[in-house]
Amino acid sequence: MIKSLRGRLFVGLTAIIVLTGVVGGTLAYMWAYNEAIEMQDSVLTQVGTFVVNASIRQSQPMNGVDAESEVVVLELGATPQGSDDDRRLWTLRDGLHNDVRHGRPIRVLLRTRPDGSRFAVIQGNEIRSEIAGDTAIRTLLPIAALVPCLLLVTALVIGRSFRPMFRLAGELDSRKADDISPLSAEAAPSELQPFLGSINALLERIRAMMDQQRRFIADAAHELRTPIAALSLQTENLDPLDMPPAVRERLEVLKSGMRRTRRLLEQLLALARQDPAPPEAGEKVRLDQLVKGVVADFLAESSAHDVDLGFTVAEPVSVTADPLAIISVVRNLVENALRHTPNGGRVDVGVYREGGAAVLQVEDTGPGIPEQDIARIFEPFYRGRKPTGEGSGLGLSIVKRIVDRYDGSIEFENLTVDDQCGLCAIVRLPASD
Ligand SMILES: Nc1ncnc2c1ncn2[C@@H]1O[C@H](COP(=O)(O)OP(=O)(O)OP(=O)(O)O)[C@@H](O)[C@H]1O
Ligand SMILES: [Mg+2]
Repeated sequence: MIKSLRGRLFVGLTAIIVLTGVVGGTLAYMWAYNEAIEMQDSVLTQVGTFVVNASIRQSQPMNGVDAESEVVVLELGATPQGSDDDRRLWTLRDGLHNDVRHGRPIRVLLRTRPDGSRFAVIQGNEIRSEIAGDTAIRTLLPIAALVPCLLLVTALVIGRSFRPMFRLAGELDSRKADDISPLSAEAAPSELQPFLGSINALLERIRAMMDQQRRFIADAAHELRTPIAALSLQTENLDPLDMPPAVRERLEVLKSGMRRTRRLLEQLLALARQDPAPPEAGEKVRLDQLVKGVVADFLAESSAHDVDLGFTVAEPVSVTADPLAIISVVRNLVENALRHTPNGGRVDVGVYREGGAAVLQVEDTGPGIPEQDIARIFEPFYRGRKPTGEGSGLGLSIVKRIVDRYDGSIEFENLTVDDQCGLCAIVRLPASD
């Protein structure tokens, strides 16, 4: 059983066309063959009439009439004479007969002249069949030429008719993973409309479900923020108290756990707040100024770790976006770079324009990301195969979601310059002027 609808249609139509060709061809051949035989009978009759009217007597092939058709006029005389065959022919009635002469089947017309002498007009059945066959075969030529043409046209029409379906599939395939906007039904053929309607209804349900899930995560993170903040405050309050070193050690562990939990909640909230739908309207913000602000916030932390944080280039360039979202992108990238750069290292930030894109580049002198991790690095909670340091694994998911939402792109490049490894993160966003 052929699975493809296109294949089935083609096989079915091919069978119909070929069958029509064979049946039509056979009928046309038979009809033309019989017609040609009848034509030859009428030639014999005409020759007979001609011989009687023109008072011709001969036993030579009638070359002047039709040499190819080998029509022979045989004088039989007024009484039976000559060979056995000729004698037997003499006894036949006037008219057309099938007979045998010299052992070969013949078609023969017998005529009696007014003076009583008889003659026969003879034609071999072999030559008659050959001529009729030749004539009949010529009627097959148009059919034989038409069948392949029809097959070709059928293949083309089927191919064309199915094109909207493949176009639709291509459109779906090329979508971003989280793009659940409805499929446009305008250009699709009417047969596909119910199907499209169902897909769009399904997409709508998925969107509602995703929205609900996102809201739930955001609400949960938000609700947890207050009690966690209260707990943090309580642990901070313990700080000034006198306590044995073992208890202080435990307190430090507790404090760092509280810090991590607060960070996780912040990141969860930030991720859940990022609506995957395209933004309605953003404001025009100067990317370079925004990045400078974020970098300034990190200066104290970087110098505490003896990391040289600075700019390579800061060209004035604007993007149209929600400034908080862009700050989130910059913060996460700079934070990652600082976190993975060893003491004494460098983090270089660059903002510039490249064609129609505003580019943010964050380069560090850390270990880089193993190639096999890069493919999964944007998945929530994925922190690589050998996670190091603190982190929730949500930072790059947030970055990716924001960048996608603004039709931008992000890529990572591992660097090795003069025995020094590092990572370069490059974000491109559409520049707004
Ligand atoms: N600059 C970098 N150098 C080396 N590895 C990095 C760098 N940036 C990210 N990574 C790797 O990618 C992983 C995912 O980064 P991501 O920012 O998503 O999560 P995180 O930093 O672990 O947690 P979070 O940002 O939520 O606090 C990190 O755990 C780390 O293994
Ligand atoms: Mg991070």
